[in-house]
Amino acid sequence: MKQINGYSKLSKEEKIDWVVSNYFSGDVSVKQELLSYWHEDVAVQKIFDDFCENTLTNMYMPYGVAPNFLINGSWYCLPMAIEESSVVAAMANAGKFWGERGGFHATIIGTTKIGQVHFTYVGDKQILFEQFPVLKKELLEGAKYLTVNMDARGGGVLDVELIDMTAFEADYFQLKVSFETCDSMGANFINSVLEEYATLLKEYVTRNNFPGTLKVILSIVSNYTPDCLVRAWVECPIEDLGIVGGLQPREFAEKVRMAVRIAEVDPHRATTHNKGIYNGVDAVIIATGNDFRAVEACGHTYAARNGRYSSLTHCSLENDTFKFWIDLPLAVGTVGGLTQLHPLVKRSLQILGNPDAKQLMQFAAVAGLAQNFAALRALTTVGIQQGHMKMHLLNILNYLEATEREKEQALAYFKDKVVSFTTTRVLLEQLRSASKEVE
Ligand code: MEV
Repeated sequence: MKQINGYSKLSKEEKIDWVVSNYFSGDVSVKQELLSYWHEDVAVQKIFDDFCENTLTNMYMPYGVAPNFLINGSWYCLPMAIEESSVVAAMANAGKFWGERGGFHATIIGTTKIGQVHFTYVGDKQILFEQFPVLKKELLEGAKYLTVNMDARGGGVLDVELIDMTAFEADYFQLKVSFETCDSMGANFINSVLEEYATLLKEYVTRNNFPGTLKVILSIVSNYTPDCLVRAWVECPIEDLGIVGGLQPREFAEKVRMAVRIAEVDPHRATTHNKGIYNGVDAVIIATGNDFRAVEACGHTYAARNGRYSSLTHCSLENDTFKFWIDLPLAVGTVGGLTQLHPLVKRSLQILGNPDAKQLMQFAAVAGLAQNFAALRALTTVGIQQGHMKMHLLNILNYLEATEREKEQALAYFKDKVVSFTTTRVLLEQLRSASKEVE
């Protein structure tokens, strides 16, 4: 029996029992395992349970920090939640490298967010455009009760535009609304305003006896926010790069510039290049309780804004200066959502000095840039596998249930050798049989 009605109405334990009996032949050890990940403090566990429907237990993810990040002249420690073994180590490398060369710089280019009411109007579109200035006033006034708090915080609705989309699809129009949502990510606020606008739009058309037929299709925030944009960069005289991975400074700089250029022109490479950037961005976004799916979706659309998917970072070597930068659209919040609820998110924000949304945009962009620099530094010199496999070795050793002593021996053994699952297993077998002989 693998279908069930009313699963969400069961108690948490009943939900676990159903899964265990249907997928683990009722094995009580599986139930015990799931229960063992519950938080011992019932009140904390209740918070996690309520984030989502049908919660059975918690899934752990490493939570770490990358200290020593010099950003706009101050030192920061970046909290990161990520399961990929080499990411935090790479961050630490890049943080140290640029900390000795003036640090990271970041500036906000814009903070505008977008929402849309998509609708069809079958009839003469001229009347829509003629009436729009009056309608716009009514929309702004009619949703004031929803925007008054945000207005008081210095945000709110910035503009409402009527867009003719009939070149793409017959009878299709949209209200494109721009917002300032201050320190909140703003999706809930934006969606509430948009739904109110949709209602007011329909009322207006009915009340004024428009000759055509208007149908609202949907109203929703757009996760594409090209005008909610942050720039982060590093720069130094090329000579100051020093010898990197055995390469002279200029040769290293030229290889990095070319590596970035390849990602600018080749979508296959750009995808991996940008994935590496999001290793850093997502880790900070998750640790601070923000929506990494929205952040990623936005970044990838931005990366394709010129009609061809391309690199999010850029590099120039003008006037003997190495300059490496990222322009990243990031809609994030430091109030609302999970930020006041998840205990570790609160800690992350404290570690960052309780930043506002603009500062958090800067931290996340720096994390992306640092991660990309670390990847390019390895890729253009010793290759990526050396660092990756060292971290991966620990995962293999844990999987093979190596003791702390065996881990030390394995790390020493693989210092100058290529790591693989088989060689690690064989090494452990040798170590174990050698220690048996000694006994
Ligand atoms: C791996 O998670 C990320 C990299 O592949 C990024 C890149 O190739 O630039 C190392």
